[in-house]
Amino acid sequence: MTRVQVGIVGAGPAGLLLAYLLRRAGVAAVVLEARSRAYLEQSPHRIRAGVLEWGSKEILRQAGLGERMLAQGLEHRGVYLAFDGALHRLDFPTLTEGRSIWVYGQQFVVQDMIRKHLEEGGEIRFEHEVVGLEADAEGLALVYRSAEGATGRLICDFAVGADGSHSGLRSQIPGVRVHQKHYPYAWLGILAEAPPAAEELIYASHPRGFALFSMRSPTRSRNYLQVGVEERLEDWPEERIWAELNLRLGGVARVEPGPLLEKSLTPLRSLVVEPMQHGRFFLAGDAAHVVPPTGAKGMNLALCDAVLLCRALLAYYRRGEEGPLLRYTQDALRHVWQAELFSYFMTTLLHTPDDPFENGLRLAQLRHLAESPHLQRFLAENYVGLYTSGRYAFWEEGVPA
Ligand code: DHB
Repeated sequence: MTRVQVGIVGAGPAGLLLAYLLRRAGVAAVVLEARSRAYLEQSPHRIRAGVLEWGSKEILRQAGLGERMLAQGLEHRGVYLAFDGALHRLDFPTLTEGRSIWVYGQQFVVQDMIRKHLEEGGEIRFEHEVVGLEADAEGLALVYRSAEGATGRLICDFAVGADGSHSGLRSQIPGVRVHQKHYPYAWLGILAEAPPAAEELIYASHPRGFALFSMRSPTRSRNYLQVGVEERLEDWPEERIWAELNLRLGGVARVEPGPLLEKSLTPLRSLVVEPMQHGRFFLAGDAAHVVPPTGAKGMNLALCDAVLLCRALLAYYRRGEEGPLLRYTQDALRHVWQAELFSYFMTTLLHTPDDPFENGLRLAQLRHLAESPHLQRFLAENYVGLYTSGRYAFWEEGVPA
């Protein structure tokens, strides 16, 4: 049995950033993670989106976690939309008062955080699966089972469920409401040793469906195809994927095939959990909200939650203030719903629906967007991140020190 101030479940972006920031500020936190370190850092199944908002880049940089990101990540100052056989570029600095985004894989962010946190004396217990949360006279107890099968209890003042989109801890909140939306689409994603289609991302809308052309480096591309939810990976041999990607580019660019390093299917859904807390237990990251991948908001939201929750915990430990903790759900849901709105907007704007009426509306909006600086500003502001880019009070305090 161990006692800490904050027990955190899950070593993803939310749990790791929270643990790291708390430790830096002198608050003892332990992370319990069901998987092994090797699985988190290396498994191809862990590949996620790779776009950091301007403010997420700032969070990592200010926290001292940004060294490799700044050296190896790619700064992008715009994105392309492709439709009707033409390419339209949105220039972020012009549309957002100088902001840009960084292309850097989530798996690298996780690797950087684990390494830095452990180097600086932080504690992550890998292969420790949390099987229960109990309240007793001493505080909260996270009940876990280690790889060897032994059970134990981590006693803490506060517990945080950062255990991902399939969170087992969510249900610990009595009366929890889960607001959900499923889309009739999935994404077929590939990572390939092949040059990217362009120097910046291309979001391509085509009558056959949406395609996204992203990258991890100047020689490694990360591309996605809209497919039906019932489709299987076996239906998509490599040649078919490359041919379909080129078809959906509609002639505005070309991709040259290269060896596939990974291939995956992801269904699209939106989910918001409310409230995000109960007593001394809090949710953060995907455990509390899921966005469809279009626009790559997932990790950015997780980092926002971690910063907000860290500030609230520090207000309590340093000044005895409970207000920020009591307001956590209310404060977090503001940036959460903004990202839900944007992810929903990008998903419906870019995916080709079966219904011709819906498709007509969608194309009208896409064509308007290509002409209208006002709509472009809406997209660009959200893309570079409203909440972390200095437009809202959220950011004024920066990263807790
Ligand atoms: C990536 C994923 C996204 O969902 C997106 O909108 C942009 C980029 C990516 O994996 O690189």
